[in-house]
Amino acid sequence: MHPDLTEVLFSEEALHQRVHEMGEQITKDYAGSDLIVVSVLRGAAIYMADLVREIQLPLEMDFMAVSSYGASTKSSGVVRIIKDLSSHIEGRDVLIAEDIIDSGLTLKYLIKTFESRHPKSIEVAALLRKEGVQQADIDCKYVGFECPNAFIVGYGLDYAERYRNLPYIGVLDPRVYNGS
Ligand code: IMP
Ligand code: MG
Repeated sequence: MHPDLTEVLFSEEALHQRVHEMGEQITKDYAGSDLIVVSVLRGAAIYMADLVREIQLPLEMDFMAVSSYGASTKSSGVVRIIKDLSSHIEGRDVLIAEDIIDSGLTLKYLIKTFESRHPKSIEVAALLRKEGVQQADIDCKYVGFECPNAFIVGYGLDYAERYRNLPYIGVLDPRVYNGS
């Protein structure tokens, strides 16, 4: 385990197994549809790369970039689009691959933005959802794991752009961001 972590929550094997199951379910649910899988850079990139390889259907991948956390560990609720989708989503089935739902504010904003473009459907496949947090009301069709309300890193999730390349997910030692 990386020395800056206090605990591993989801091992590489557990992540692989769960993402495989989610991909199987999505493959069943979206058979015959015009699927576009969208993710928000940069946190969801690694999860999305794994997820799409578990979906046995023709699909398109697209990316957005928004600003949310900066180098802090709390969501500001302010979301700014830095890079919009490259493709049109009108009349299509949009699946948002989200890394983690914390306050849900980022996702809420994205869904509202996408709805105004008139897709056929919008659903969310979140790898993680934090437990016991005040969350925006979001209908999340697929959730990989519920996770504790701690600051976690790895498998795409960062603190100040670090730890994204850890193959597992764990709890960051608060000493790292409290600076003691
Ligand atoms: P939300 O708007 O509060 O739901 O969180 C938005 C984004 O913040 C997520 O998509 C993540 O990229 C990031 N985030 C939230 N919680 C964590 C965490 O525990 N570790 C790392 N990034 C997080
Ligand atoms: Mg994110």
